[in-house]
Amino acid sequence: MSTDLLDPAAVKADFPLLEQEVNGGPLTYLDSGATSQKPRVVLDSLTGYYEEINANVHRGAYHIAERATTAMEDARRAVQRFIGAPSEREVLFTKNATESINLVAHSWGRNNLADGDVVLITELEHHANIVPWHQLAAERGIELRWIPLTDDGRLDLTGLDRLLDGVKLVGVSAVSNVLGTITPVRQLADAAHAVGALCLVDACQSVPHLPTDVVELGADFLAFSGHKMCGPTGVGVLWSRAELLEAMPPFLGGGEMILNVTRDGFVPNELPWKFEAGTPPIAEIIGLGAAVGYLEGLGMEAVRAHEVSLTDYALRTLGDRFGDDLLIHGPTDTARRGGILSMCLREIHAHDLSQVLDQHGICVRAGHHCAKPLMRELGVTSTSRASLYLYNDESDVDALGDALEEAARFFDF
Ligand code: ALA
Repeated sequence: MSTDLLDPAAVKADFPLLEQEVNGGPLTYLDSGATSQKPRVVLDSLTGYYEEINANVHRGAYHIAERATTAMEDARRAVQRFIGAPSEREVLFTKNATESINLVAHSWGRNNLADGDVVLITELEHHANIVPWHQLAAERGIELRWIPLTDDGRLDLTGLDRLLDGVKLVGVSAVSNVLGTITPVRQLADAAHAVGALCLVDACQSVPHLPTDVVELGADFLAFSGHKMCGPTGVGVLWSRAELLEAMPPFLGGGEMILNVTRDGFVPNELPWKFEAGTPPIAEIIGLGAAVGYLEGLGMEAVRAHEVSLTDYALRTLGDRFGDDLLIHGPTDTARRGGILSMCLREIHAHDLSQVLDQHGICVRAGHHCAKPLMRELGVTSTSRASLYLYNDESDVDALGDALEEAARFFDF
């Protein structure tokens, strides 16, 4: 894996969408937390699949079907390598991270959680790692408990021992999609294991941005989406240890996930196909494999170093330009955060602010970011969120600063 620093201009040139103009000026894409742009190599892999090997997988005994199957299983091995998974059998393809977490709640949760058990999550979780547990709690008497936050948006682990009482699963985002906070996953996983609990990691905002090794993390389940890591929409991943997956019942039933079906029942398939009912998103999986290859070519250490330096530049320059008028939530230490900047410019509503930014070609996300319990803790209903990625550079941060100045003028301060 390369550890050279990124050349932002060369990286940007790999992303065709970023060449376009809006409102007579450059498009500044700062919404990679919602979805990333796709490099040419990923777009080519999608059209290449449809133009050359479009056939269903694991079924046809003809040439292009075999090539499609090989390409899909090569992508699985690429993902396995990328996250340090011990076996390709442990890499399940889903629709997205939300489906991955729902798979855990339905299959593992419904078989392992009983009345009185506790699921411990954190106040910075995305709804995807909250609602499935609420749904399960509505069915049976499990308790949903919350790890609180410090004032600067880190997890407050001072009461962790007490919080862990009766816990069967700890669920945590590796990086907050609102605050950028990098959470201490290993510490939480170790603490979970010490009380006989498992640890589920929502890695949506970490796998695209940080080197990932599931064994080093100590996780039991790791969920992420392809579309935030330069891959296509419609494909996500759930990784778990083989022995856990072996013991879990299938999530969805249908074709592909069985070894045999009779009038009396069915025998589930082997891993990983036991959890991949129906025709999978073949093109998208192959595209995700291409995205992994692209990121590996740059080197995830280099991606992280680039984002740390750019986040540092953004916090410094925006702080200098706006002082107390601009609140950027989350930790100030770039070693503890990713490139997610949730902003409040004085009292301007996030939607009004993002509309002015849009007039200047700046794409940010405004709203609650699917993290309403966190918004409540922050005492806001919404923020404008700029999220940085490998194709952003200092000129994008400067453009954001210029547009924020226009907004301040427009709203008269
Ligand atoms: N979860 C994605 C976000 O934070 C969509 O924007």
